[in-house]
Amino acid sequence: MLDAATAQDLRRKHYNATLAGVRKAHDTLWCFRVRPDFPVPDFQPGQYTTLGLGLWEPRHSGAFPEADLDEKKVRRLGRRAYSVSHPVMLNPGNGHLAPKSLDYLEFYIVMVAGGEGKPAPLLTPRLFLLGEGDRLYMGEKFTGEYTLDSMEDIRRRDDALVVFAGTGTGEGPHNFMIWELLRSGFKGRIASIVCVRYRGDLAYEEIYRNLEKKYPNLSYHALTTREADTIHHKVYVQDYIVSGKFEDEIGRRMDPANTHLFLCGNPAMIGAPKIRDGQKIWPAGKKGVIQIMEERGFRMDWGKARGNIHSEKYW
Ligand SMILES: Cc1cc2nc3c(=O)[nH]c(=O)nc-3n(C[C@H](O)[C@H](O)[C@H](O)COP(=O)(O)OP(=O)(O)OC[C@H]3O[C@@H](n4cnc5c(N)ncnc54)[C@H](O)[C@@H]3O)c2cc1C
Ligand SMILES: NC(=O)c1ccc[n+]([C@@H]2O[C@H](COP(=O)([O-])OP(=O)(O)OC[C@H]3O[C@@H](n4cnc5c(N)ncnc54)[C@H](OP(=O)(O)O)[C@@H]3O)[C@@H](O)[C@H]2O)c1
Repeated sequence: MLDAATAQDLRRKHYNATLAGVRKAHDTLWCFRVRPDFPVPDFQPGQYTTLGLGLWEPRHSGAFPEADLDEKKVRRLGRRAYSVSHPVMLNPGNGHLAPKSLDYLEFYIVMVAGGEGKPAPLLTPRLFLLGEGDRLYMGEKFTGEYTLDSMEDIRRRDDALVVFAGTGTGEGPHNFMIWELLRSGFKGRIASIVCVRYRGDLAYEEIYRNLEKKYPNLSYHALTTREADTIHHKVYVQDYIVSGKFEDEIGRRMDPANTHLFLCGNPAMIGAPKIRDGQKIWPAGKKGVIQIMEERGFRMDWGKARGNIHSEKYW
């Protein structure tokens, strides 16, 4: 542990942003609203930056404990990547969509608890002790290929279909991308599938139920896997697609000619192959969405070649 004066000096030196507020789904799932000291560079919905806190900061008691840090390490910043989310809400006064330039950036973050035999999580147990007005670090670079540029070929087609599928906080970048599609008057169909453990993990559901009323081309599909009525017959994103239930609910088929899929979150849901000697080696076990959709004529991004399946793995 560092003495209080040293910790305060390090905070002054490294921190460049303030927590403007939080919207809590529950104790370990928050929408962090962060206001940087610097002018936010122009970035695209779907991109990410980094957040950080000093390793001298305390950790949440609900997370698996960390081994003692030595004098040198404790002075470092712990940084992780976070997709920029968006509150996507409708203004209660006039029913208009929230503007792009809010005076904060929203990040949808879950506290990783860790456990025996796993590395003790570095940053999230520290983030979840912050309160409004506290200082933290935000990276000034916003980056990532996971953007709507990948679906430019269908952007102006009225018969287009864009499917976003996320697990847990993998919904975050989709909120901003959907906001952008709605804002820009996209005429195609938009569907967002979100798979979480418990109903209480759906921080944005109510917002989407309101958006669905205003935008008939938008639908939100929530799947839970650990509620009493779902734990014994879990429907993962893959099952929802393979069974045909998703397409029945949106009332149309996913056609590679006019459909793009965006997948974000748990790598097992995405199921990206390893590439060896130019061949795809699919992960063992349950098929991920990429493999399922490639078997239906879709193509994932491959190097510089853009396909119609795009993905962002969180670990
Ligand atoms: C491009 C990118 C964008 C990301 N955006 C987000 C985001 O918007 N929101 C967010 O919560 N996380 C996001 N992550 C994950 C984030 O960077 C951290 O890994 C995560 O917050 C855990 O950090 P940690 O230091 O507490 O744990 P670590 O010490 O990094 O432990 C990592 C382990 O935690 C698990 N894990 C990591 N992230 C998640 C997650 N989101 N949900 C479930 N389990 C997880 C995995 O088992 C992983 O091996 C993103 C990652 C990448 C690469
Ligand atoms: N969610 C909570 O209530 C909660 C509470 C406290 C702490 N945490 C911490 O938060 C972290 C993240 O949890 P999370 O729930 O946000 O993310 P997650 O573990 O990635 O789970 C998100 C969703 O993906 C599903 N999933 C798991 N394996 C899959 C696969 N192979 N294919 C498709 N879907 C799959 C999960 O179902 P399963 O039910 O099968 O896992 C769950 O519905 C964890 O480290 C945990 O320690 C979560």
